[in-house]
Amino acid sequence: MFVKDIQLVNFRNYENIYFQPNEKMNIFYGQNAQGKTNLLEAIYVLLRAKSFRTNSEKQAIAFNKEQCFIRGRVEAFGFDYIHEVKISHYNPKKLRLNEENIENLSQYRQNTPCVLFRPEDLNMIKEGPNLRRDFIDDLIEQVDTSYESILKQYNHLIRQRNIALKKNRDKNLIKIYNKQLIYLGVQLIKSRYEALELFREYAKKYYGFISYEKEDLDISYDTKISYNPSIKEMREDYEDAFNKSLERDFTLKRTTFGPHRDDLHITINGLDVKDYGSQGQQRSVVLSFKLAEVLYIEKQTGQKPVLLLDDVFSELDQQRKKLLLDAIGSCQTFITTTDQVMQIEKFVPQASVYSINQNQLFS
Ligand SMILES: Nc1ncnc2c1ncn2[C@@H]1O[C@H](COP(=O)(O)OP(=O)(O)OP(=O)(O)O)[C@@H](O)[C@H]1O
Ligand SMILES: [Mg+2]
Repeated sequence: MFVKDIQLVNFRNYENIYFQPNEKMNIFYGQNAQGKTNLLEAIYVLLRAKSFRTNSEKQAIAFNKEQCFIRGRVEAFGFDYIHEVKISHYNPKKLRLNEENIENLSQYRQNTPCVLFRPEDLNMIKEGPNLRRDFIDDLIEQVDTSYESILKQYNHLIRQRNIALKKNRDKNLIKIYNKQLIYLGVQLIKSRYEALELFREYAKKYYGFISYEKEDLDISYDTKISYNPSIKEMREDYEDAFNKSLERDFTLKRTTFGPHRDDLHITINGLDVKDYGSQGQQRSVVLSFKLAEVLYIEKQTGQKPVLLLDDVFSELDQQRKKLLLDAIGSCQTFITTTDQVMQIEKFVPQASVYSINQNQLFS
């Protein structure tokens, strides 16, 4: 899948620009605050119908304008699709696909997978488990449309159960929640185990490549329930674990066990990367995760996602930069950088380089 052309009107600092990206590698080069990340945001909005920068998408409308729109032609499975997103201060967001209004978000983005790296993703390594859980959940959601709704139902029930633990402390009510949570929780844990089994192989391969095979990455899923091909046995284990944690849950007034508490354990040469990894190693881990995500989506859905890499080169030494560019493969890629482009052009001579200056794009 790739973006054939894209137009931005009144989107952030762009009044009206149109360009036809390279099917493979595109570099947005420019000084700080010129609008490089804004361009990646526009491509992401075109493909995923939401922003990665803000929950309030109206912020993307250029100052003093009433609305913005992004329109682009995307090729997926050999067919062209025209995608359009209109964001207005006064009306709800409007999505159009091939000139028809679309209400259903998953219909709009079913053929447009996208993998994004941005510097904030390093927090996934450095901080608590919730960003790591979000990562694995996002990975599965892009290839399995039922996962998102199971996760939503599960989270809703956890909130209800926590209210019951705090307020009425009714053991029978808790038992009813337990039964439903076991059913949903096992599905989540099983999907995560299965996704990670493949993903781990891909991430190990890419990390080995980026670290010139000197370092060994590993990932394991940190949960109390062991993987078992039999769902029945996993449910029994889950029920046991639930029973064991019941008194604790009543004392702490929250659900202390389940996939909402699980984590990914990430190591380099056996050492926890959160506690022992250098900045460059942590960045390399996140990048190998993103490359592995590309491969995972491609294997599961049969099409290559678009890869967006924001400010990806900082903190990587020359050799890692080159290895990263070599590892990217053939999916359509957009990279922003303030670095001297000469170096990148040397590594990827066929790239299209756009220089961004004062709200304009020069190719
Ligand atoms: N709604 C908006 N309307 C007009 N301009 C905006 C809007 N939102 C942000 N901007 C402008 O966009 C600029 C930032 O763009 P962006 O974040 O893409 O920069 P960048 O080139 O990625 O910089 P850096 O290299 O520092 O990451 C800011 O100067 C900001 O004022
Ligand atoms: Mg930026």
